[in-house]
Amino acid sequence: MDVPFLDLQAAYLELRSDIDQACRRVLGSGWYLHGPENEAFEAEFAAYCENAHCVTVGSGCDALELSLLALGVGQGDEVIVPSHTFIATWLAVSRVGAVPVPVEPEGVSHTLDPELVEQAITPRTAAILPVHLYGHPADLDALRAIADRHGLALVEDVAQAVGARQRGHRIGAGSTAAAFSFYPGKNLGALGDGGAVVTTDPTLAERIRLLRNYGSKQKYVHEVRGTNARLDELQAAVLRVKLRHLDDWNARRTTLAQHYQTELKDLPGITLPEAHPWADSAWHLFVLRCQNRDRLQGQLSDAGVQTLIHYPTPVHLSPAYTDLGLPPGTFPRAESLAGEVLSLPIGPHLSRGAADHVIATLKAAV
Ligand SMILES: Cc1ncc(COP(=O)(O)O)c(C=O)c1O
Repeated sequence: MDVPFLDLQAAYLELRSDIDQACRRVLGSGWYLHGPENEAFEAEFAAYCENAHCVTVGSGCDALELSLLALGVGQGDEVIVPSHTFIATWLAVSRVGAVPVPVEPEGVSHTLDPELVEQAITPRTAAILPVHLYGHPADLDALRAIADRHGLALVEDVAQAVGARQRGHRIGAGSTAAAFSFYPGKNLGALGDGGAVVTTDPTLAERIRLLRNYGSKQKYVHEVRGTNARLDELQAAVLRVKLRHLDDWNARRTTLAQHYQTELKDLPGITLPEAHPWADSAWHLFVLRCQNRDRLQGQLSDAGVQTLIHYPTPVHLSPAYTDLGLPPGTFPRAESLAGEVLSLPIGPHLSRGAADHVIATLKAAV
């Protein structure tokens, strides 16, 4: 039996008639950028996130970058980022001219460790940028308290955690700037790139609206130096269809995660992902830590089980960041995670039979 890491076609096939209808509506409308579908999706997604404003943009990267820009973060500023994340988090900081200052993850969820954040704050720090990694929320209450105490912005990278909750609140509710990605493989995925910023702040929302469209509200009146970071109408229409199924799809992910947790506990050399009691993860990924990771990945692959590594190289050791001068050994937690993590297939369309094949293969391998 072959088990792919993720089956995106299955997501389309489940909603095929609604998605086809939504696409036909846009194709026939003759209006393809920033129109009624974007407006409707922004209202629906803001409501889903229990927040006041949503501004769609072209990608998760755009959402992070424009949030930072709109908050005035730039040259000469430092932004605290996780040492263990996807490189996009750091790149957004670099793109606005600020310096990413990495902080190590805590041991349960591998998200930004609030206890270490405070030590990393300097007079140049402008913002804290936690990532709700693998779908598990970062400790927002602790991070918000630190940000408030030091007068810093809190920009959340929610690329992997749409629909998650912390202490009963939806991730994105009450946020100054929460940046989402609708990359096809995300829990709420478009049929191409897409992103959004959700915010309580109407002024910030307006600023991002300007920035995403050449700095212009009115054609050929350019108030600021913006960019082109628009979500097209087809993507917005598809996202509207999928949003209606997101909670159901996340619940299916949770059921599979619980099944893995039950069946894989106590396997030698394997550490299962944990969740804080205050967190409802969106289970974007199910990430084990294991000894002999590469050998295990090979054995799973031989049995038809596709796994991935999120992420094999810590960002500070990527060629893109050699200029920061952070040699191996600087961030030991991130470095050891990079050598141990292994993501099993998970998703709303992974059948129980496929999950059982993953479980049996893993048990046989260890
Ligand atoms: C943690 C994190 N941040 C940001 C991004 C960037 O999102 P996008 O690919 O939509 O630009 C991703 C995408 O994979 C991500 O995983």
